[in-house]
This record gives sequence, structure tokens and C-alpha cells, in this order.
Amino acid sequence: MTEWLKRAVFYEIYPQSFRDSNGDGIGDFNGIIEKLDYIKGLGCNAIWMNPCYDSPFRDAGYDVRDYKKVASRYGTEEELCRLFEEVHARGMHILLDLVPGHTSEEHPWFRESAKEERNEYSGRYIWTDNWFQRAEGFPYIAGECERNGAYILNYFKCQPALNYGFLEPKETWQKPLDHPDCLATRAAMIDIMCYWLEKGCDGFRVDMADSLVKNDDADKSGTCLVWSDMIARVHKKYPDASFVSEWNNPAAAIGKAGFQMDFFLDWFGNGYNLLMRDYDDSGRDDSFFRQDSRRSILDFLEEYMPKYEKIKDKGLYCLITGNHDMIRAAYNLKERELKLAYAFLFTMPGAPFLYYGDEIGMRYQKLPCREGGYTRTGSRTPMQWDQSANCGFSAAEREALYLPVEQGVDIPTVAAQEERADSLLHTVRDILAIRGKYADFADHANLEIVSASDGQRSFAYRRGSLLMLCNPSGVRETLVVDNMEQRSWEKLYEIGAGTWQGNSCLLEGQSFVILSGR
Ligand code: NOJ
Repeated sequence: MTEWLKRAVFYEIYPQSFRDSNGDGIGDFNGIIEKLDYIKGLGCNAIWMNPCYDSPFRDAGYDVRDYKKVASRYGTEEELCRLFEEVHARGMHILLDLVPGHTSEEHPWFRESAKEERNEYSGRYIWTDNWFQRAEGFPYIAGECERNGAYILNYFKCQPALNYGFLEPKETWQKPLDHPDCLATRAAMIDIMCYWLEKGCDGFRVDMADSLVKNDDADKSGTCLVWSDMIARVHKKYPDASFVSEWNNPAAAIGKAGFQMDFFLDWFGNGYNLLMRDYDDSGRDDSFFRQDSRRSILDFLEEYMPKYEKIKDKGLYCLITGNHDMIRAAYNLKERELKLAYAFLFTMPGAPFLYYGDEIGMRYQKLPCREGGYTRTGSRTPMQWDQSANCGFSAAEREALYLPVEQGVDIPTVAAQEERADSLLHTVRDILAIRGKYADFADHANLEIVSASDGQRSFAYRRGSLLMLCNPSGVRETLVVDNMEQRSWEKLYEIGAGTWQGNSCLLEGQSFVILSGR
């Protein structure tokens, strides 16, 4: 694994909403450059930026019209390259968002592919043999194009699926992975990756990485094969290129496909959800980090640990505070609860990903859909820098903003939290500073759960010589940690207090303690 990844802490930027430098109401590359020192000052040394390519923006840029052209609303290619340089000048790294599974229906490849006359792009997407033939088992569109056939979608209606083939083709229109059309799609994607790596980006967050090969088996062997080939070929030219997959399956993504990192995501009501987002419309909320939850951390670990164990020596299984697709964590957690949750996320193995604004507990806004965001729109609002007009996001008129900024006197802002010594922002900085200082956090195979059991809210875990203890409940709890007295311990950080007697630690309600042993 590339050395910098072992110490990486990512900051996710939704470019629309981070900082508008030219007063047109939407964020831009120069705005991000202005704020790089802020990001570095948080303790983040890497950035993932959501898609910034030319697009009709029917899915916020995940509908790419031209992979090699930047969206003019964010600036020019020169400005993006300057962003790469400024990032590197600060010893940081940056990943672009790669959308390999589909394009916009406005992409010239698709336009060519939709023509009746055969051309270079006829096989770039997945078409049935005639207009009457259904693509059974897939979302598909028929009757819209000149071409006599129906085509498969990968996500929204505006996103036709690129053709990487079928694991076991069953119909004439389904091609094997090594069909020249499928190989041409791979080559085109490799070419795009090399284009941006040459310009200076450090790698990619890969959208829907698991979606490439159709009718793939449970192990995703076809998709793994395609990725391992593409990544190996990119690595021949750019050995340090880094890849994080949106896959939620580290055994496949890291173990077989060649990614260095995969995310633990909020898919299918899984263990990730249990930490901060275990609620439903009925008002039930049993998120682990809520003070009033009844859960044990085992509910999370039962899913996390087996997946982690399988890849811990090979790559990073990454935990996130949130992202542009989910409800903000502050929606249902209070500041103290967020502090404990982040302390946990930032001291676990894998590279942590901090979603912009989560460091100040930006809240979820109920808003009408923008650019295909639907319920996600409310987590994509402008960054709240200070109490000036538009929260310091933009000098534009309020009506011209990409999305409205939150209103109110008590809204979280960076400036207000700078002033308050016990703010979430300071907690984030303090914990990330500790993470950066101790080499044990750069060893991602060293997680050991030392205390966790059913019916117990508190838990403890070790990373080498570091010991973390957490009590998310509202009342004092005693945790027993075997062999405590065999070492001397230095307290590195605490939210709330822990007092020791032999192997027992009395943890205050809602506390988190980091100790270093000698
Ligand atoms: C996952 C992205 O995170 C999401 O925002 C997007 O809508 C879909 N993939 C489709 O590309």
C-alpha cells in the first residue's frame, strides 16, 4: 500500500457547496484552494472531491457528459490543476470521483451508440438486439432512440450502463467479459484515469465499483477480474495511484479487485447504520451512540470484525462520518454524542472520512430535491463558515445560492466553534492530532477488542500500545480490562473521565478515553 495511505485522514468535499470564490452562488475550485489550510488544520491530509466533470447535473455530476472536461461552474482545468498543486504543496493528497459504471445519456459515446448505423460506440453500452426484446431482470429503456434496441440503466433514467460484459452471457446481446466491445470500455476508462493522474490527482473514489459486470456471481468474480486488470494497468504507469471503492465488500474490493480501500456503508440497514443512523419513520431511534440507546457495540462488531479480519493486512476498511448520500449525523445525535461517535471512528483502523460540515455538526435540512438529490439534498447545503451573509459561503444574493444556507442564530459555524473551547470542532482537531502523532494508528492490522459484551454499553479496544475506552450511556459504568496493571499508562485524551482501580475503570456517562501504555 502507498505509504501516505497508512496515515491518511480524508475530507470529503461536495464542490457545489464548499466555498464560492467568485460570487456566482456555487462552490468552485478556487474556493477549495482558499480553504486548504483550514482542512489541513483539522488534521485531514487528503481530500475526496465529488464529480467535477462536465455534466447536465441530473444526478449532481454522477451523470458525466465528458470525463475529460471540468464543469465550467467549478472553474477551468488550469484551476483544477492548481488545486492539485496547492494540495501537494501542503503535503496532502486528492482523489477525484470516478464514475465507471454509467455515463449521462448526453455523453457523446451514448449519442453515437444510440444511432442505428453501427459505429465505434455501438457496443459501449448494453443494448438488446431489437426494440421489442426486453432486457429481463434489468431496468431498461426502449422506444427513445433511433437504434432498434433497448438499453440497460445503471442507476437513474439518465444513466445508461457502460458495457463491461456479462459473467455468463445467456442472450445474444449479452457479451462475455473479453469481447472486444467490453475490452474497449475498459481501455476507455483506463485512459480517463491516466488522463487525470497525469494532470496530478492522486487517485479515485470509485462510484458503484461493484456494478460493472452484469449477472455477476455472489463473489463478484467478474467485476473483480475487470478491476484487477484495470487497476494493474493503471499502476504500471502510476504505481502510487490510490483507489477507494464504493462497494461495502472489502473481501471482494480489497481482497480480489485490487482496491487499497473500501467503505463500510449505510447499505441495507447494516452494522454501519447501527452506530449513528438506526432510526425509522415511526420515531424509533436506537443508534448506538445515542445516550438512550440500549445497544451493545457487539451489534456493530459482529458485522464489522469478520469483514475487517479478512483484509486487515491488505488494505483499509474505511469508516465515515457521513457522505453526500446520507442524512447528516447531527440529525439525531447531540453534540456530545457526535464527539463520542467521531472519537470512535477516528481511532479505528482504516482511513477515516470526514464529510464537510460534519466537523461542526452541520444539520440536515428538509429541502426540495436539487439535481437528483431527493432526500439527500438536505445533507448537501452550503458550508457554514461564519455568521456573515450566506454563512461566508458566497457573496451572491441569497436567491442565487446553489442551495439555501441554514438560517438562525444558533446554527453551527466554524467561526463560532473556534471560539468555544469545548466545541465539536476542537474535539475533531484534538483527536485527529493524536491520530497523526501515534504510529500505532498507522498499523491497520492491530485492532483488538478488549472489552465488549451483550447487555453492556461500554467497550474498550486496543491499537498496539494505545487503549481506547468508551461509555456512550448516560450513567457511570465499570469496565474491566485484563492485565491493566502490567503497564504504566499515560492519558492522551478524555471526554468525560475514567478512574482506575486495578483492572477496573469507572467511566463517567458519555465518556471516551485514550491511553498510551508503556
Ligand atoms: C453513488 C453516489 O454516491 C450517488 O450520489 C449517485 O447518485 C449514485 N452512485 C449514482 O452514480
